[in-house]
Amino acid sequence: MTDDPTFVRSAGQWEDADAPAGGSAGPDATFLADVLAGLAQTPKAIPARWFYDRRGSELFEEITALSEYYPTRVETELLARHCGDVGRIAGAGRAVVEFGSGSSVKTPHLLSCIDPAAYVPIDISGDFLRDSAAALARDFPGLPVLPVEANFMQPVPLPPAVAGTPKLGFFPGSTIGNLVPRSGVNLLRDMVATLGEGAMLLIGMDRVKDEATLVRAYADAAGVTAAFNLNLLHRINRELDGDIPVDAFRHRAVWNDTWSRIEMHLAAERDVAFSIGGRRFSLRAGETIHTENSHKYTPRSARQLLAAGGWTPLREWSDPDEMFALILAEARPEPVAP
Ligand code: AVJ
Repeated sequence: MTDDPTFVRSAGQWEDADAPAGGSAGPDATFLADVLAGLAQTPKAIPARWFYDRRGSELFEEITALSEYYPTRVETELLARHCGDVGRIAGAGRAVVEFGSGSSVKTPHLLSCIDPAAYVPIDISGDFLRDSAAALARDFPGLPVLPVEANFMQPVPLPPAVAGTPKLGFFPGSTIGNLVPRSGVNLLRDMVATLGEGAMLLIGMDRVKDEATLVRAYADAAGVTAAFNLNLLHRINRELDGDIPVDAFRHRAVWNDTWSRIEMHLAAERDVAFSIGGRRFSLRAGETIHTENSHKYTPRSARQLLAAGGWTPLREWSDPDEMFALILAEARPEPVAP
């Protein structure tokens, strides 16, 4: 990846894998650098992956249970209904490599019908990763579970034990939608590099739909998504020695039709000034910090993005209301093109 600031924490690569991120180990230098750079630019922005500290991960789990937030529910149903087809097309004996596995709630559906050779969950949050890997290993006795603590936004070295095994990448949740197109293409190409030619990828992609439904999914009545968004400011205050007056900010979710995406912002309700790690920042009333993009796809735009990233779509499944899509794609050797 060249245009998303990233940090790598491959297991054991640089640091004690058990050291807490941020917290007692001192401020995370990459978090600090991202926040300082993002707040110094116009318009202000902070990369969405910094939402996921422990509290943020808990709040995201709460979001997935909201009636307004359809993606998790619909995708889980699609997986349950169609994973037999996935198994028949992908065939037995693949290593399933999950990108951003989090709590791995959708994974058992997939593992139970594809007869995998191994399961390799990749996640940047080591705590979550170890807990969910242990739970999966209990549920699938005999299945090698090989967690990798790493940032999947760049090619990830996989465990040597699966070097010769054909791969099935699994990238659910429409997480690809957090990336602007050029970053999404870079990630898909990195996935080809990570998984190897002949690999398959099962990816969840959220669909373009009426604006009201989309906005409701990111501005729920109970305010859980607002709390999720605002937690980023609390996290900055906690981990980066900030004094942001969080009560001066309001959660905002808007549809950007030009880019086909929901945007989340934190809008200053009045003029505010604060400091982070000794640096001063200010916002005028109405100015926002852009904290997340969630791109939505048509059937064609989804296939085009995959193709641009080196993946040939093989088959896709959607629900009757076409709320969400699961797409199975293959990394084929690049043919001679006309
Ligand atoms: C986990 C990135 C797919 O964009 O829908 C949910 C995150 N943000 N509500 C999404 C999220 C606000 C979610 N992804």
